[in-house]
Amino acid sequence: MSPYLIRPATTADEPFLWEMLYHALYAPEGHGPFPKEITREPDIAKYVLGWGKEGDRGFVAVDGLDFTPVGAAWARLFAPEGAGYGYVGAETPELSVAVLPEHRNRGVGTDLLGRLIAEARRHHPAVSLSVSSGNPAARLYRRLGFEIVGRRGDSLVMEKRFDNRQNSEVAASYDLWAATYDVDPNQTRERAAVVLRQRGLKLAGRDVIEVGCGTGLNTQWLAEQAATVLALDFSAGMLRQAQARVQSPRARFVRHDIRSAWPVADASADAVIAMLVLEHIERLEPIYAEAARALRGGGDLFLCELHPTRQMLGRQAEFRHPETGERELVAAFLHDLSEYVNEGLRAGFELLHLGEWRDAGAPRATPPRLLSLHFRLTAQINV
Ligand SMILES: C[S@@+](CC[C@H](N)C(=O)[O-])C[C@H]1O[C@@H](n2cnc3c(N)ncnc32)[C@H](O)[C@@H]1O
Repeated sequence: MSPYLIRPATTADEPFLWEMLYHALYAPEGHGPFPKEITREPDIAKYVLGWGKEGDRGFVAVDGLDFTPVGAAWARLFAPEGAGYGYVGAETPELSVAVLPEHRNRGVGTDLLGRLIAEARRHHPAVSLSVSSGNPAARLYRRLGFEIVGRRGDSLVMEKRFDNRQNSEVAASYDLWAATYDVDPNQTRERAAVVLRQRGLKLAGRDVIEVGCGTGLNTQWLAEQAATVLALDFSAGMLRQAQARVQSPRARFVRHDIRSAWPVADASADAVIAMLVLEHIERLEPIYAEAARALRGGGDLFLCELHPTRQMLGRQAEFRHPETGERELVAAFLHDLSEYVNEGLRAGFELLHLGEWRDAGAPRATPPRLLSLHFRLTAQINV
């Protein structure tokens, strides 16, 4: 079976969404298939009718070779008087998902939901859905953080609330991942480490801050190069691994959420390094602002992230749950390339180098795996 790609749904996808709406209906065992016309019943049709309205958001999975659609996940807001089966509030969109039968059981639905949830998180306090209590998909929804908030007949109303302020979900995911993070095969982590080492940053004798240090894979190397390294991360599990790995007296670890003011004095560092962390941060502006505040004039900011194009195709940090073995997606946010660059420029940095990195031997037509940006703080900022 060929690989699949995920792209945003457009108004031109409405006919396919009608088809997916039919596939989204759950027929319990022993119940024959529904008649095709059922999707035109007003209570069902309203999930797709006039697709492309304000607030509609969706993603379509397409075959990677011929781009034919194979599945879709979409979300729509309803007013109280037109409430859908999974309605919990006028600001919470209801989510639908379906994959063509021959493309099921390969993670397409999970990837579609991951992309849709990441997008919805930017605009809404929560997402909701309705699922028949006998539908095995309810287990997947639970794994993705949905909770049962009501029952209508034999259907469950499930809601996933976004805790955008604390985002403790991400820290909790990394706490779970910490024990296997270093040994799980992970080309993104390996390649990013090489990209950092190849950049030729001036580190000798300098004070470095590493944000989102994780298990210390790069902290170890930074501590061998620099005078001091302050490594920040908000996952206690990841920090434990890092502290066990990095024995250098030059490295200091602090548990800290980097979306809040960093525990450093103004103009106290020469380099800030962020490796594979910004995909978990919704707003880049405060991060660039803190980096600019912490750096001395002329200091370097180097970041390396999963390339946004990959994210658009449905990739994001994921791991296997250590107890259940189930696939877990770590909450992620999409930042366009322009956002990465322009937020840096706005914070007073100049861009020295932008790198887009494919795997060795990967064809040019494949999206790069990684994006790297090397900024320098313009000297006058801290004088
Ligand atoms: C994919 S891991 C990368 C770890 C390491 N930099 C590497 O390249 O292997 C992302 C790390 O960022 C941390 N992280 C994510 N959001 C954070 C936040 N708001 N504050 C501090 N750390 C954060 C996570 O806990 C995790 O350790």
